[in-house]
Amino acid sequence: MIEATSAPVRLPAGPPIPKLVQGLVMLTARQKAVAALRRRYGTEFTVNVPVLGRTVVISDPTLIKDVFSADRELIVRPGHNLGATIGPGSTFSLEGDVHLQRHRLLVPPFAGKRMRGYESIIEEEVMRAIPEWPEGQEFETLEPMMRITLNAILRAVFGAEGTALSQLLELVPRAVALGSRFVLLPAAARRDLGPWSPGGRFKAVRDQIDGVLNELIADVRADPDVEQRSDVLALLVQARDDNDAPIPDSHIVDELLTMVVAGHETTATQLAWTVERLRRHPELLERLTAEVDEGGSDLRQAVIWESQRTRPVIDNIPRRTKKRIRLGEWVIPEDTNMFLSIQLPHSDPANFPDAEAFDPDRYANGAPKPPTWIPFGGGINRCVGAAFATMEMDVTLRTLFRELRFVPTEAPAEPLYDRGVALAPKHGGRVVVFRRHPAADRGADVRSAVDVNS
Ligand code: HEM
Repeated sequence: MIEATSAPVRLPAGPPIPKLVQGLVMLTARQKAVAALRRRYGTEFTVNVPVLGRTVVISDPTLIKDVFSADRELIVRPGHNLGATIGPGSTFSLEGDVHLQRHRLLVPPFAGKRMRGYESIIEEEVMRAIPEWPEGQEFETLEPMMRITLNAILRAVFGAEGTALSQLLELVPRAVALGSRFVLLPAAARRDLGPWSPGGRFKAVRDQIDGVLNELIADVRADPDVEQRSDVLALLVQARDDNDAPIPDSHIVDELLTMVVAGHETTATQLAWTVERLRRHPELLERLTAEVDEGGSDLRQAVIWESQRTRPVIDNIPRRTKKRIRLGEWVIPEDTNMFLSIQLPHSDPANFPDAEAFDPDRYANGAPKPPTWIPFGGGINRCVGAAFATMEMDVTLRTLFRELRFVPTEAPAEPLYDRGVALAPKHGGRVVVFRRHPAADRGADVRSAVDVNS
């Protein structure tokens, strides 16, 4: 348990290198540097980098658990770029009790048992994407996976169809592209200084998106059968906090955008990594195909866990002390940044024997658990979309293995590439595929479906 203390500060050791150099290394080779520092200093160490200052990196699972469950008066999530860009109604902008209330409202719409209802949307999106995948030629999966996950979120979460869906499909990627550059600018440069300024261009797209989303919200409010609707938007419109107050419309708009930004690139990137890993494990490709044909799912689920363990798309979770605290043997002063490492506990042989190996069979006796397996974080900021992402990855892989044969490769593993939101395979998760069912069979399938429906 973490407590406030007045004891003298005692920080873990760290590299005696100038701040600027440490900053450059953390910017350009963070994962390798962090692994080397773990070997040199142990599970906790302190880096000193520009902007963040002294930052304590934590990877002991017990300490990670303590931080996840710490009192909000002692440790908080620091101001988030995502919140600053999206707006004051985003979960990432909220703090303290206001955040907790919002988090509690967001959790039920994403509860595991509701997720089955979205499976058909995901399958439809994968089936729509597959005809564009060339046979026998290597191509990148990351971009097609991003289209699948964007469409899936817009349909399942926003309840968007028809014109609203096509407008958002055009506008949201533009906003995300502009926003991810915009977020790096100093606050003054983010202001709206006319239609050609970065702030002005971002605002113009945002205004159009807000227009579409406000119409979707108005549709939900006017729907007499709103209680029958299954999309997350309909649930958010009906949600009430402890004081029976609804979420303001402007906050619902910000939350919907938060979910697109937090949920589509992360899930797509994890899928691209899963394909990248599997192509280097031909025996798993064969077993997964056989499992799909038999209607099973255990190995596929274990593959997803192992992909998230060995290639987590987010490698650390930022936190900040509000008071001087005692954390294990350390005393950390107030206003100090901390990184809860996801990468280090996942790759520690003490937590996962033969940790370097990609071995989904390691979960034969049960699912991996926090605090050693934490791709979705933990505590009051734990990912609200975890069950959605897991279902989406499962249905996407199930459909791909049913329809396609993946050709193994002996090419070296793809290196990591930091895209800002997620750590991606540098070459985009390249694959070569062949269709499992010859065109004639597919024609017969389509004909029999038409016969049945006519
Ligand atoms: C593989 C896919 C995903 C990964 C790896 C992932 C990872 C994470 C992590 C590590 C956090 C914790 C951040 C922190 O503690 O500071 C988080 C929070 C969050 N995620 Fe995800 N996420 C994924 C998919 C999704 C999806 C699909 C959605 C929504 C549709 C989503 C929505 C959110 C939201 C709203 C939060 C903030 C929760 C809060 O602070 O109350 N994520 N995610």
